[in-house]
Amino acid sequence: MLSGILLGAALLFGTGILAQPELPTIPADLSTPVQQRLAFNGPTSMRVGWSTYERLGKPTVEFGVFPHLMTRSASSESSTTYPTSRTWSNTVTLTGLLPYTTYYYKILSTNSTIGSFKTARVAGDHSPYNMAGVIDMGVFGPDGLSTRPTSFTGMPIPDQLKPGDHTTIQALAATLAQYEFILHPGDFAYADSWLFELGLGYINGTQAQGPAIYEGLIEQFFDQLSILSGSKAYMVTAGNHESNCLNGKSPGEASCPIGQTNFTGFVNRFSELMPETPDSIVGVRPRFDTGLEGARMKARALAASKTGALPPFWYSFDYGMTHYLLFDTETDLGNGIIGPDEAGGTQGDSDGPFGSYMNQQVDFMDRDLASVDRKLTPWVFVSGHRPWYVDSGPCTVCQQAFEPILLKHKVDVAYFGHVHNMQLLGPLANNTRDPAGYDNPSAPVYVVNGAAGHFEGLDLLTTPDKLPSYGIEWFNNGTLYGYNMFKFLDKDHLEIEFISSKDGTVVNSVTLFKKH
Ligand SMILES: *[C@@H]1O[C@H](CO)[C@@H](O)[C@H](O)[C@H]1NC(C)=O
Ligand SMILES: *[C@@H]1O[C@H](CO)[C@@H](O)[C@H](O)[C@H]1NC(C)=O
Ligand SMILES: *[C@@H]1O[C@H](CO)[C@@H](O)[C@H](O)[C@H]1NC(C)=O
Ligand SMILES: *[C@@H]1O[C@H](CO)[C@@H](O)[C@H](O)[C@H]1NC(C)=O
Ligand SMILES: *[C@@H]1O[C@H](CO)[C@@H](O)[C@H](O)[C@H]1NC(C)=O
Repeated sequence: MLSGILLGAALLFGTGILAQPELPTIPADLSTPVQQRLAFNGPTSMRVGWSTYERLGKPTVEFGVFPHLMTRSASSESSTTYPTSRTWSNTVTLTGLLPYTTYYYKILSTNSTIGSFKTARVAGDHSPYNMAGVIDMGVFGPDGLSTRPTSFTGMPIPDQLKPGDHTTIQALAATLAQYEFILHPGDFAYADSWLFELGLGYINGTQAQGPAIYEGLIEQFFDQLSILSGSKAYMVTAGNHESNCLNGKSPGEASCPIGQTNFTGFVNRFSELMPETPDSIVGVRPRFDTGLEGARMKARALAASKTGALPPFWYSFDYGMTHYLLFDTETDLGNGIIGPDEAGGTQGDSDGPFGSYMNQQVDFMDRDLASVDRKLTPWVFVSGHRPWYVDSGPCTVCQQAFEPILLKHKVDVAYFGHVHNMQLLGPLANNTRDPAGYDNPSAPVYVVNGAAGHFEGLDLLTTPDKLPSYGIEWFNNGTLYGYNMFKFLDKDHLEIEFISSKDGTVVNSVTLFKKH
């Protein structure tokens, strides 16, 4: 949502700066793990991902239920990079774990420390739990969203961070004990704002150094995130900023870094990390692992290829009383519908598609949602990046592609970002409000919250007379950075909170009742 005029201005006064860009310092010990990230892979398996400033021959993680007795270890040969990246992404799968159990882990390196995580609850565990949702979150600090008194437009903004305010990462880090995992459906880092930042003198360097500046911002972001993503499962799908070139394109396209085209950096970090197999196929593992695990993993991958899941773009997983499905609103909409980031799409990019055939994603969604056992997981929660119910810029092609599937399978909640403020839309079907409201609606409840915070600040809502006819249940008009807490209280009650990051205030809360 940026104009070409601004970018032109940024280019003009960006060209005179000759100093070097600031990049995270490369540790002397190149095996030092950075950008730690975790994901569930069913209730008895966990994926550990991290980056290093060298290629690892055999990425290895030691783990166990006691920090001083990590008797087990897992390895892989997965250490990959891409042109313009300074780092390699490493991924290892830990198997044979107990569900909902704390494990300690140490990434094998001559310079690493011990971390911990908790495995997922099994499907059918109806104990209450909380899940935190963040969307559209960028670098914080001097090179991103900071206490600097002006926004990227050079205008005073109402939404700046004040000294002492928590950023969203700080807010979530301060409350780690209050939720069990994090969902982040798209838009990480906002490194594609680098040219604006250069033009405004927020970052040193030249346009020719674009790829290095871009990667430097990405590295900073994932380093900042690791306090969360290295201690909780951090489940993701793609947003447009994983595809955008120079955030809206410009005369300077020539220096578009490879890491920001065709979701390259995103795929590099997350494709092997996110799970490919719905738990319903995997089942619960016996307590003690055996050498059969390798064969089991192969069987899982085969089962996954049958479902058509394509992590990190579209896949599903179970957690306690909830079935989660993450999907890709950027590409692969199926049935000949052009995705926003595909050639000919609204974004002006030409990325994807990723499926092996046109309808792979929608076929997966239909099949996956049809197979949910609502006795085990009464709640069905879906999440993607671009909303179609929103105050402005609805993704109508997304609605055309996905809404019929959500209605057909009686999805309970659909969660999106992309627009940089908080909006609670209520239960909606075919652009019409479900008259039941939150009292056992048959339509999905839509939640939009792209207000986690990043260099561009927040968006104001359109004027009241331009709001959509179906209305908006509650909103914050671009004054608060925040995230959501989804509190699954029992099989029939879900509390949805909007939380202000700066001080942790719950600014809105509704309880959805579904007679499951
Ligand atoms: C070891 O890792 C820490 C961060 O975890 C880093 O600050 C330090 O520079 C590393 N030491 C070496 C020798 O690379
Ligand atoms: C740019 O580099 C100069 C000279 O090294 C330094 O004084 C200045 O603080 C840097 N500016 C930024 C925004 O990093
Ligand atoms: C993007 O990557 C996918 C998967 O590698 C590939 O199939 C597709 O052709 C690429 N698209 C573009 C425009 O490069
Ligand atoms: C929404 O529209 C579709 C197609 O027109 C229709 O099949 C479906 O019944 C409608 N659903 C609701 C809840 O109105
Ligand atoms: C949001 O704030 C802007 C600027 O004050 C105002 O023009 C707009 O009407 C507001 N939108 C709503 C829905 O209140």
